Amino acid sequence: MINMPADDTGPNPLESGRDVLDLLLSPPAHLDPYPLYAWLRTHAPVHPSAYGAHLISRYADVEHVLKHPELFPGVPEDALARMFPLAVGHEAYEVLVTSLVGSNPPKHTRLRGLIGRDFTTRRVGSLRAGIEDLAGRLVTEAAERLRAGENVDLHAAVSVPMPLHVISDLLGVPHADRSRLAVLVPAMMNVVDPAATPEAVAAADAAFRELGTYMSQLVADRRRTPRDDLVSALVSVHDDDSDRLSDDELRTLLFTLWSAGFETTATGIDNALLALIDRPELGHWLEGTERQAAAFAEETLRYDPSVQVAPGIRFAAEPVVLSGVKVPAGAQVRLMLGAAGRDEAAFPEPDRFLPGRAGAAPLSFGAGIHYCLGAGLSRLEMTALLPRLHRELPGLALAGPPGRRRSIPLRDFSSLTVTLTDEIRRR
Ligand code: HEM
Repeated sequence: MINMPADDTGPNPLESGRDVLDLLLSPPAHLDPYPLYAWLRTHAPVHPSAYGAHLISRYADVEHVLKHPELFPGVPEDALARMFPLAVGHEAYEVLVTSLVGSNPPKHTRLRGLIGRDFTTRRVGSLRAGIEDLAGRLVTEAAERLRAGENVDLHAAVSVPMPLHVISDLLGVPHADRSRLAVLVPAMMNVVDPAATPEAVAAADAAFRELGTYMSQLVADRRRTPRDDLVSALVSVHDDDSDRLSDDELRTLLFTLWSAGFETTATGIDNALLALIDRPELGHWLEGTERQAAAFAEETLRYDPSVQVAPGIRFAAEPVVLSGVKVPAGAQVRLMLGAAGRDEAAFPEPDRFLPGRAGAAPLSFGAGIHYCLGAGLSRLEMTALLPRLHRELPGLALAGPPGRRRSIPLRDFSSLTVTLTDEIRRR
């Protein structure tokens, strides 16, 4: 830890003797981690947590790590086993180790090349009409219920179904199976929680097994009867040349896309809704061009990013100095994207929500070789949905405090229940 002069970031939260990760899971930081992040950025920008990771919180350092995968590669399998000893030998853990974000070149380059073409601007653009249609339907249904006097949980009614149906359409998962498979994702994610209990790891395994059986059946089905979907396309790569995509890799890619594809975007939509409810005066950003709506979405993802800690677990391949602190070779490094997004050195007035702001490029989707595969898709979903929500549902108010799940890497919601203000209802 480096010593810096006292400033206005408040008393040392670590004086309590509790680890930063424990503090982030407890009140008040579980609801508002940003004061703790500010303290870390100022006083301990490279902080060794008792759970074994060096936590990196300044924008410049986070960007440096993201853009130098040769200095900070994904963790080799034996090291990961030491970090998550409980998870060793569990299927959920195996999948994590071999996932796209956990792999290094040349394997990463090969896999990304295979899957990347299905996420090109053109391919994503071809989904636009379907995405707009879905956005229209979800918002209209929610608006009807609200106008009928119901309080509506927009997390369940809009934020989750939007990306869930989009990723399902892309992959080719039938309607009847979507909701059942969606609930498996939070259980699966428990396996990367540094403080996961044996029960949580077992639940993650069970969820992976269920999803794995399902994906294997889907692959078998598309092999028999190919369709115009991503699973069929990946099956045909695998069948043409299994050196380019092995059976295990195919399965892992499907897991990855399923688990990365909707919780993240749903949280982005929830946060944008909260921003609109808190700051109705900024609604004009959603009344103009698509560029303006995109700027609103981008600021949402900087101000309160869905993904607070980059999912890629990296380690220092050699001793490296970050913000004057030596990170020893072999040290695990975790990137605090939520903290980097509020770094005053990168964003003037970082605690203000200012769509279209000047400053550095947000790192909410990462950077470098592991830059988010679904960034274009998420942006498209958010910009299709947010102007409609603003237009059809003006005057929203929270009906109660939003429900939040307790998770450090993904600050996601369990509910976001709203009502119409009396003024709007009377219209
Ligand atoms: C608002 C929504 C999203 C956010 C904030 C987000 C965030 C991120 C971040 C920060 C990374 C970099 C991880 C790292 O370097 O450690 C990443 C990678 C990734 N994301 Fe997303 N993501 C979102 C939506 C999606 C969607 C919709 C998909 C799939 C359709 C997706 C698939 C992926 C994949 C496969 C990677 C790994 C890429 C690689 O390693 O080459 N994400 N995402």
